Amino acid sequence: MSEAFDPAIFDFYAELPQQGPGRNSETLRVLSCISDRLPPRPTIADLGCGTGRATLALASALPDAAITAVDFSEVFCRRLRNEVARRGLADRVQVVEADMAAPPTARGSLDLLWSEGAAYNIGFENALSLWRPLLRSEGLAVISECTWLSEKRPAEVATFWATAYPAMGTRDENVSRATSAGYEIIDTHTLPAAAWDDYYDPITEAIEAGRVAQLGPAFIAELEQERAIFAASEGSYGYVFYILKPRRAG
Ligand SMILES: C[S@@+](CC[C@H](N)C(=O)[O-])C[C@H]1O[C@@H](n2cnc3c(N)ncnc32)[C@H](O)[C@@H]1O
Repeated sequence: MSEAFDPAIFDFYAELPQQGPGRNSETLRVLSCISDRLPPRPTIADLGCGTGRATLALASALPDAAITAVDFSEVFCRRLRNEVARRGLADRVQVVEADMAAPPTARGSLDLLWSEGAAYNIGFENALSLWRPLLRSEGLAVISECTWLSEKRPAEVATFWATAYPAMGTRDENVSRATSAGYEIIDTHTLPAAAWDDYYDPITEAIEAGRVAQLGPAFIAELEQERAIFAASEGSYGYVFYILKPRRAG
């Protein structure tokens, strides 16, 4: 989602099923790569959870997990809290309105740190180093990050991202950033392009149905441009899940 801090924009996104590209089947696919490394009752944080699409997928796949979902948006947290209560999950899913750069998480306490499509807000490298101390020594981190997938980038796509997210790295660059921040790479997984439609389709429907009165025309144009850039991207960028564990000293 866009980083503009207009409350109307957060209200708009709060009505969407998700606030970034992603899909439950992909969340669960990545989880299945590491579930045998988790303890029976894992302690998990979902940082930058939005209205909690991934939080809720993790909660259903791991019925004995205790999950803390963190987002700085009051409206997203309220919506997720309501859904958690509706599903009877309040005893093990806590929703906290906080800055994910300083989450209310004790050092060395997490079996699994999850974050989909959110780390860029505080900088991927910064997130990697701020979050590593939160993990137990056997803990794991799964962080998805928009990533250059090819050197062949249509000019309009390269120009757009040079302004929108100049720090966007290639997979190799991000692997190297994770290694420098003290992680080992377990695996990576690229989100299929169809999972971007799960994010963009409800936005396009809202625009076409005129349910965007609260958003200014400039913001609506930005939303449309971002989708057009993805359509023109020729697969040159996408979300990559980085599946990480802390590297042991020595
Ligand atoms: C692109 S959305 C992804 C949301 C969700 N993970 C998903 O996949 O649908 C990024 C989220 O990060 C949150 N966010 C951005 N900066 C944050 C910060 N400093 N602390 C906490 N949350 C933040 C936004 O409110 C938003 O919910």
